[in-house]
Amino acid sequence: MVIAIDGPAASGKGTLAKRLAAHYGLPHLDTGLLYRAVALTLLDAGFPLDDERAAARAAEALIADRLADPRLRERAMGEAASRISAVPAVRAALLAWQQRFAGNAVGAVLDGRDIGTVVCPDARVKLFITAAPEERARRRHRELADRGETATFDVILADIKARDARDASRATAPLKAAADAVVLDTTELDADEAFEAARAVVERAILH
Ligand code: DC
Repeated sequence: MVIAIDGPAASGKGTLAKRLAAHYGLPHLDTGLLYRAVALTLLDAGFPLDDERAAARAAEALIADRLADPRLRERAMGEAASRISAVPAVRAALLAWQQRFAGNAVGAVLDGRDIGTVVCPDARVKLFITAAPEERARRRHRELADRGETATFDVILADIKARDARDASRATAPLKAAADAVVLDTTELDADEAFEAARAVVERAILH
């Protein structure tokens, strides 16, 4: 069974994806990490983020080891990932990587921006997780503070809005809900309630 989970930055899709994967015994891939790793590879090698050829080469050469680097979780890397993710050649290189992961025998849970629309259009379950930008900024603010990163709420909110706009407006595989995705707004839900709502969607899909 493949479960595709999409949504904007800090919507809670990652937490949800991890919990669903653990619950159903499926491997999980946070596809945002792939884009973050390409951005980090580029910056570490001294290339600017707008060097599309270098970004494409970094995506083609991506190795799994890179996905464990703690720097990938930093705020600046989310922004950098969003920028390089608009490059079609980067997306093409990462598409194969993600489809291989999803194609294993047991299935998988993948979360990102274009899983239900492009990476796994035939996924058994498609969820689109969203929440009001202010609530997402509050969650991200708390998460960054827990990790010792200092950024004000206003800066994070501005980041989130800019990232939403960029991710949703790019020409290749923009952020959007698949026509057959179930949209789950978690603004008023805590993590347990969001999980129960998502699990109910999966259970319904299994019964069909
Ligand atoms: O989910 P995240 O915040 O780690 O993602 C970082 C950026 O990577 C996001 O702003 C856009 C890009 N991304 C993408 O274009 N497609 C995906 N499937 C996942 C992430």
